[in-house]
Amino acid sequence: MTSAGLTAQRGGPLRGRVRAPGDKSVSHRALIFGALARGTTEVEGLLEGEDVLRSAAAMRAFGATVERLGEGRWRVEGKGGFEEPADVIDCGNAGTGVRLIMGAAAGFDLAATFTGDASLRGRPMNRVLNPLKEMGAVVLGRSGGRLPLTLQGGKLKTISYRLPMASAQVKSAVLLAGLNTAGGAQVIEPEPTRDHTERMLRGFGAEVVVEDRDDGRWISLAGGQSLTGTKIRVPGDPSSAAFPIVAALITPGSEVTVEGVLLNELRTGLFTTLKEMGADLTLSNVRIESGEEVGDLTARHSQLKGVEVPPERAPSMIDEYPILAVAAAFATGATYMRGIGEMRVKESDRIALMAAGLAASGVGVEEEPEALTVVGTGAGNHPVKGGARVVTKGDHRIAMSHLVMGLASDAPMSVDEPGMIATSFPGFVELMTGLGAQLGAEA
Ligand code: S3P
Repeated sequence: MTSAGLTAQRGGPLRGRVRAPGDKSVSHRALIFGALARGTTEVEGLLEGEDVLRSAAAMRAFGATVERLGEGRWRVEGKGGFEEPADVIDCGNAGTGVRLIMGAAAGFDLAATFTGDASLRGRPMNRVLNPLKEMGAVVLGRSGGRLPLTLQGGKLKTISYRLPMASAQVKSAVLLAGLNTAGGAQVIEPEPTRDHTERMLRGFGAEVVVEDRDDGRWISLAGGQSLTGTKIRVPGDPSSAAFPIVAALITPGSEVTVEGVLLNELRTGLFTTLKEMGADLTLSNVRIESGEEVGDLTARHSQLKGVEVPPERAPSMIDEYPILAVAAAFATGATYMRGIGEMRVKESDRIALMAAGLAASGVGVEEEPEALTVVGTGAGNHPVKGGARVVTKGDHRIAMSHLVMGLASDAPMSVDEPGMIATSFPGFVELMTGLGAQLGAEA
């Protein structure tokens, strides 16, 4: 996608109440589970971002009826299984979409060809294909496990699979494939990752057993279980809420409330870390919606201090390190982020792009294979210089992170491909300008 650049510059304080867009992880799953289930699934608050719309189109291609009833309101009519698609499935930029759909499709007697945009075609798929092949799926495609590829599904064998990396996408793909086997599937994760698949399987009537043992978390799903359509209210996405929250923390005089944010502890590592950095971040109106805890988060401008982020926290905030690096740039002292090698295989190599963007903006930064250290400028007397034009390589979170930085840095910040922000946060510019942010077309 190409578009004109976007610039963010320093203005007055940010103030107001906003609603976080629907959670991307839950939105993909709602459509995929709805299509696998028999009967009607009604979804409220679906994230209508590009990534999720690709999953909606994919579910139609696999035979489900997927209709938009109104803003965020969708209905999925599943047939209790997938049919062979007539055309290539293009998942766009969405790693979650393609990996979960490949897992879901592998248990049916069909062939499907998957592709995506340049970023997705460069991302590793063997992490999902290896267990699926072990279960009996056949994969034809480029060497090295990159898209495009064709998956031939069928009668799969049961599997007990220890994840080689902390990945909720791989866990979910194996569990979805396991649904359609006689013996089911078992996944052992060394560190717990987001558990939306486990929760949603239960919401659709399947039985999932989760046990914490000395060697990790064991997730077991009996085979041959069928899913029944249900109602889903999608909570606000903490990964998107992170942007207005950090913007308020680094912009003097700000107070911003983001309503309805998902508080699942496997997703909120960023908020824990910001509190440790001294953020004035408070929670109110905590409630349960569709089996998930949600609440309203209020952030007020704060002088942050650098911290060492425990590496074991990484799975609960893996998408939030780019915006944490921005918060760290305005803090006093250094922030150490370790055990974050997975960041290099996201929509872009996020360690490299954040290190480049921060360095170009006058921030001290050190990049290691699996770590990033940011030396804060301490705000106030020595603000972040800014003034860089950032190459985002089509990565939405790299774009939003640098734009947030531009709201509080000395000189404006620009990004090259703001159109990609719509993959996860379609109303980002309107939401931020509504709070008072100075965001506009690059001069
Ligand atoms: C996701 C899992 C994470 C995360 C991604 C969404 C999911 O990826 O980065 O944005 O919905 O399961 P990994 O499983 O590759 O860590």
